[in-house]
Amino acid sequence: MAEETSKTFGGEQGWLKPFVHLADNLISKIGFVLLTTAGVAWLFVLPVETREGASHPYLGILFFLILPAMFFLGLALVPLGMFRKLRRERKTGTLFQRLPPLAWSNPELRRLVKLIGIATIANIVIGGYYTHATVSYMDSAGFCGTACHVMTPEYTAYVESPHVNVPCVECHVGAGTQAYIQSKWRGVGQLVAVTFNTYEKPIPTPVHTLRPARETCEQCHWPQKFGGYRLRVWDKFAEDEQNTNAKTVLVMRIGGGSMTTGIHGFHVAPGINIEYAADPKRQTIPWVRYTSAEGKSVEYASEEWTPENQASFERRTMDCLDCHTRPSHQFFVPERALDIALSTRVVDASLPWAKKKGLEILRASYASTEEADARIPEAFREFYRNEHADVFKEREQAVEKSAQGLLSVWRRNVFPEMNVTWGVYPDQIGHTDFPGCFRCHDEMHTSSDGQVISQDCSACHEVVALEETKPEILGKLGIHE
Ligand code: HEC
Ligand code: HEC
Ligand code: HEC
Ligand code: HEC
Ligand code: HEC
Repeated sequence: MAEETSKTFGGEQGWLKPFVHLADNLISKIGFVLLTTAGVAWLFVLPVETREGASHPYLGILFFLILPAMFFLGLALVPLGMFRKLRRERKTGTLFQRLPPLAWSNPELRRLVKLIGIATIANIVIGGYYTHATVSYMDSAGFCGTACHVMTPEYTAYVESPHVNVPCVECHVGAGTQAYIQSKWRGVGQLVAVTFNTYEKPIPTPVHTLRPARETCEQCHWPQKFGGYRLRVWDKFAEDEQNTNAKTVLVMRIGGGSMTTGIHGFHVAPGINIEYAADPKRQTIPWVRYTSAEGKSVEYASEEWTPENQASFERRTMDCLDCHTRPSHQFFVPERALDIALSTRVVDASLPWAKKKGLEILRASYASTEEADARIPEAFREFYRNEHADVFKEREQAVEKSAQGLLSVWRRNVFPEMNVTWGVYPDQIGHTDFPGCFRCHDEMHTSSDGQVISQDCSACHEVVALEETKPEILGKLGIHE
């Protein structure tokens, strides 16, 4: 007996003969079917996954979770079945008694080959069909509507941003295989959370998992190439009967990255390095170290930077996203959102009290989007119907259009289903709606030799007109509105 065993393991056809014999049992066969299914399906998904996988979280689940799980289960079942058979035969003393040669006449070999053959063909037919059906489903708008519903706020803002043609993965998935796999794992975790409804609402800002900003942004915006000055005009409307319009005109000192002037010149020019410490949400910044291109460092600290507090702040190096926090998901505070709507005539500024009443309606709370759909336009109509009957009669169309416009302002910024309300996602680019630049530039951050981080208005922008009805400068530029 022992002699024969050692011969079969070592001889020609080596270990295959006992393998085929032992594998001929139900558990191992199930294992083989799982292995073939996982293998064939993997081959089908692979090209789709490499082509566009990163943008399809469901595909990620299949590719990184279900197929590997199936594969490893199969891989475990095959030896398990063999081991049980081995033990059984050893007990009954029938182990390897008569091992037929590995020829087609061997029924065990025939069964195994047939099983794997049928499973493969079946998988190719089924897999081929499903891959095709799944891919066309995922390419459809319906998929995004259902699968990414938790992203509705970000998606809504994104389609109105200058980055609407930049795929999500450009900013959210780093370059290289490692970042790709990491993002897949996160995606799987996120999908599980969505399935079991255990995710956080609003979705937390992924400050830690965004790919390095400079690497991302500089693919398209090369800091040495943009700069100079930029004229900006803000339209504001007062909360009076006429919704009095006033304009603010600033010349932004954008500054090129290669010159150490202006906003970019001082923060992202070559050689400049700014480190800071902040709370996890980066709203409070009590400590900053500025290293100039010449390598000179200055440390600034505010009153909050005490020995006891220091441990609760995280350190970071400043990059584009510390100012451009919302490059593609900008949400506004109600005043600004309504000012934009009034200046673009989404809400008609010639309707009396449109700003004041509109704000009141926008600020009210609505339990769901459906409720807002019903209540917001109605509240606006009702105001004119009850309190300005003449306006309502003469300008019914304007009232109706503005009522719908007001609703669109709300729907662009508030998403009760995701707990996204006014101001949940701060934009740090300025200093009027959120602390923004003034998190550092408040003249309260001092260095050991008494320097402060400047709050000089004209260091960042030239204030050419501050809330003027007809700024002279615009007239000079030939802009008459
Ligand atoms: C130009 C770069 C860019 C693109 C393109 C982009 N994002 Fe973002 N996204 C960001 C940044 C930056 C943040 C973090 C914002 C912050 O720090 O305040 C973010 C945050 C988010 C968040 C977290 C919640 C929040 O609002 O802070 C979600 C969800 C999100 N993005 C989804 C998407 C989806 C879905 C797409 C594609 C439809 C997309 N993003 C496209 C840059 C981008
Ligand atoms: C794939 C290319 C691409 C990437 C990556 C990209 N952008 Fe842009 N960005 C654009 C385009 C295109 C525009 C629109 C240009 C225009 O309006 O003149 C734009 C516009 C902008 C603007 C000007 C918006 C305005 O008000 O006019 C800012 C600011 C900006 N991007 C910042 C960023 C930041 C920050 C990142 C990194 C998170 C980034 N971009 C990544 C292509 C890109
Ligand atoms: C210190 C804050 C800060 C940092 C850091 C910063 N920016 Fe800016 N950036 C601004 C401000 C402020 C503006 C002008 C916004 C405005 O016009 O209101 C601006 C404007 C821009 C514009 C539009 C330029 C134009 O002329 O229209 C682009 C593009 C841009 N930034 C990209 C970047 C990129 C890419 C990085 C990282 C390499 C970066 N910024 C880093 C504050 C910053
Ligand atoms: C550290 C740079 C910085 C300093 C200092 C600064 N600002 Fe600004 N300010 C900005 C930026 C950036 C924006 C543009 C924000 C945006 O793009 O939405 C802005 C926008 C504004 C606006 C128009 C935005 C609005 O909503 O009305 C006004 C007005 C303004 N600043 C006034 C001032 C005044 C007055 C001072 C001096 C006390 C000052 N700023 C100091 C950076 C600065
Ligand atoms: C993390 C802290 C931090 C933030 C946030 C920050 N800055 Fe700065 N900034 C500095 C430091 C430090 C200096 C160098 C000290 C100085 O010159 O005041 C500086 C310098 C500047 C200067 C040159 C000032 C001068 O003296 O000529 C400008 C302009 C500027 N920042 C604009 C901005 C704008 C605009 C924003 C917001 C979009 C902003 N900064 C946000 C830290 C910051």
